Amino acid sequence: MSKAYYIVTGANGSIGKAITEALAAQGLPVVMACRNIAKSQPVQQRIIEETGNPEVVLRPLDLASMKSIAQFCKQLTQEGVAIKALVNNAGVMCKSFGQTVDGFEMTVGVNYIGTVALTRWLLPLMPSGSRIVTTTSLTRYIGKIDSSFFDDSPRTYKRFKAYSRSKLALTIYTARLSQELQPRGIAVNAADPGVVDTDMITMHSWVDPLANLFFRPFISSPHEGAIGAICAATLPESSDITGEIFHKKRHSPIPDSLKNSRQAVWIAAETEKIIASLGQKAAEGIE
Ligand SMILES: NC(=O)c1ccc[n+]([C@@H]2O[C@H](COP(=O)([O-])OP(=O)(O)OC[C@H]3O[C@@H](n4cnc5c(N)ncnc54)[C@H](OP(=O)(O)O)[C@@H]3O)[C@@H](O)[C@H]2O)c1
Repeated sequence: MSKAYYIVTGANGSIGKAITEALAAQGLPVVMACRNIAKSQPVQQRIIEETGNPEVVLRPLDLASMKSIAQFCKQLTQEGVAIKALVNNAGVMCKSFGQTVDGFEMTVGVNYIGTVALTRWLLPLMPSGSRIVTTTSLTRYIGKIDSSFFDDSPRTYKRFKAYSRSKLALTIYTARLSQELQPRGIAVNAADPGVVDTDMITMHSWVDPLANLFFRPFISSPHEGAIGAICAATLPESSDITGEIFHKKRHSPIPDSLKNSRQAVWIAAETEKIIASLGQKAAEGIE
């Protein structure tokens, strides 16, 4: 694999598929990074057929397992992949409490810890001029980060609380990483899809039939939700933009107050410690 690839996590999901289709339609080489290969293969085949782009490859990645993340990074390294853009699209909002392989609450574990680990560990494959895109959400405005961030429990778990703080933490991380990587010429931005008609907004409760009737017809389609990430990852005029949030074709800076707050400084330090220790363990565990 000698070209510079666009990596899309969760590329088989609603917005991920729309991002992958758009990149493939532009003739760009794409790695679909997906946890369920059997479910993702038909999506890959359809995208190849519809776009006529044979350079859409599929690789296994489970963001709920540090070992899987380390294995994914090792595979790309061994294949000699250079990365043009990493689009961190995959995400979950778990209805009930669950844990990742490494013992973190699942929503924070996938949306934040796994995504940060993947981004850090792929940096050696990212030359100057490459881009990183994370996926935020409007819920970041209600997110609260406190000392329970890394160890939620079944007793205290609430899906909106976990989801909103995972997205707030990821937005903070995006802003701080953009500062760190600016001297290396790597642009780091977030994309906010808005409210999109996908499985993620299914509440698994009595409100779903009402939402399907009165809400879903008026919100964005997955293709509309994908526009911000596509612009951040590909538009030539976006190459100098870093530390911003893209919503459709518009973008605005992540506020300094967010990236320099006390909670931002605390979570950044804790995250780096956790990722460094997990990285060492994961590297020891892979073949
Ligand atoms: N829908 C909205 O209104 C909305 C609004 C704001 C932000 N977002 C964000 O947009 C992104 C895409 O969401 P969507 O609405 O397209 O949801 P979706 O259709 O449920 O897609 C989620 C994708 O993430 C993948 N994923 C979940 N857990 C994973 C794991 N452990 N490892 C690797 N991949 C994993 C899923 O894979 P599987 O198919 O194997 O489950 C799927 O491909 C998410 O980050 C979400 O938070 C969505």
